[in-house]
Amino acid sequence: MATITVHPELLLERILSLEIVRVTERAAVSAARLRGRGKEKDSDQAAVDAMRRELNKLPIDGTVVIGEGEIDEAPMLFIGEKVGNKSGPKVDIAVDPLEGTTLCAKNMPGAIATIAMAEAGTLLHAPDCYMDKIAIGPGYPKGTIDLDASAVDNIISLAKAKGVKPSEITAILLDRPRHADKIEAIRKLGASVSLISDGDVAGVIHCAEAKTGIDIYLGIGGAPEGVLSAAALRCIGGQMQTRLIIDTEELRERTKKMGIKDPKKKYEIEDMVKGDCLFSATGVTDGAMLRGVKFGKNMIETETVVMRSATGTVRRVVAEHRQLAKFHLG
Ligand code: FBP
Repeated sequence: MATITVHPELLLERILSLEIVRVTERAAVSAARLRGRGKEKDSDQAAVDAMRRELNKLPIDGTVVIGEGEIDEAPMLFIGEKVGNKSGPKVDIAVDPLEGTTLCAKNMPGAIATIAMAEAGTLLHAPDCYMDKIAIGPGYPKGTIDLDASAVDNIISLAKAKGVKPSEITAILLDRPRHADKIEAIRKLGASVSLISDGDVAGVIHCAEAKTGIDIYLGIGGAPEGVLSAAALRCIGGQMQTRLIIDTEELRERTKKMGIKDPKKKYEIEDMVKGDCLFSATGVTDGAMLRGVKFGKNMIETETVVMRSATGTVRRVVAEHRQLAKFHLG
């Protein structure tokens, strides 16, 4: 019988693609215990602690490149922090242990725990600032969208590529005053606007999920969330362009220190995630993408979506945790 040899690094990457599920599961459960308590910082800290604990069990030599802020302002999972038990490959890690802290504090839909992992040196080291973003799902010709074109022109171009009228396109944006002009222009065109109060990692991913009915993400959100959603789109397909918003001298300095030479650069997915990556997200509260954590009598249930860009595999993992429930572990 022929023996099949799997390259050890490939095997490890495949194993890690399941191991990172545990990381977001634990963060989600810890945050979910504090759902609806109105305490954003507490639930975020609980998610950070749990994620860090799990990350340090993994056979990786990891560096957090997108984290909870810089060392002096974040007690854990700060940019530059080393994680993992050092027995495996060098990897870059982007984390948002609780994406949608307000959603969790108010027990509103769409809070998730999320992570992306890739070979060292391949994830964009972005500061914790704003980022202008545009994204669509897979199947469209390259160049269908352009960050520098108006929202209206992008929707017209997308409608043409989809073979529908602009009025049949739905755009998703964060509900912020800074987007008022864009929203008005999109509505004037006759297209539909779907507004989210928070959580634009899921907002971008929605463009690649036909069931959501969302065609395009537009507007300004966080840069860390931009890199995380780029990692997801690298796995499932789609187009995305972004640009950091560097509008203060202090930010300019920080950006320079992070090795970004051109602060005005327009990034494509391949500039933000240069090689293969893994992405995982677990629902904290119920949302369009994932069910939130359910606390049963002797069991906790989680739902996770985990993606691997090398193969484009997307797995949905519904897990029943009995020990977690028994020992009240996070
Ligand atoms: P947090 O979980 O850090 O609160 O982020 C939520 C979020 O809505 C992100 O999804 C989004 O990118 C960012 O905040 C937008 O920032 P702002 O609320 O300042 O407009």
